[in-house]
Amino acid sequence: MAVLDILHFPDPRLRNKAKPVKRVNDRIRQLADDMLETMYLAKGIGLAAVQVNVLKRVVVIDLSPNATQPRVLINPVYTVVSDKIVGADEGCLSVPGFYEPVSRFERIQVEFLDRQGNQQVLEADGLLGACIQHECDHLDGILFVDHVSNLKRQFIRRKLVKRQRTRAE
Ligand code: NI
Repeated sequence: MAVLDILHFPDPRLRNKAKPVKRVNDRIRQLADDMLETMYLAKGIGLAAVQVNVLKRVVVIDLSPNATQPRVLINPVYTVVSDKIVGADEGCLSVPGFYEPVSRFERIQVEFLDRQGNQQVLEADGLLGACIQHECDHLDGILFVDHVSNLKRQFIRRKLVKRQRTRAE
């Protein structure tokens, strides 16, 4: 396994769109394993391949407190089950240190391929539902900061650019 570099906002590569995985093979499984290791090290609960500059529709999620329930979602597509909107604070490994309330659909159904390439269907709400919507956004080049006000997004952008500049010196 290998730890991958996570891109940070406002890196333009986070705006790339990922392509569907044609075949779930060992390379894809390796990517998913590397993404999980990267996510665990960074203490995150979700990571999309676009965040490690790989343009494939692969997402990993683990909401358990002790990193024991890894989920791999390949080519995830969700539909809205309840169009009620709920809001909760979100963060992102690509936007380190910032948490802002984001509105999401309360309940979704997601279809995806698992790491064996089998078709799966899952209904999700709460944290898992929001996390899946957040990660699916990444696969289309969308970040949670796109769901907050322009003012707030510009504030976060300025802070992160400044921090990246300081670190590069
Ligand atoms: Ni994220």
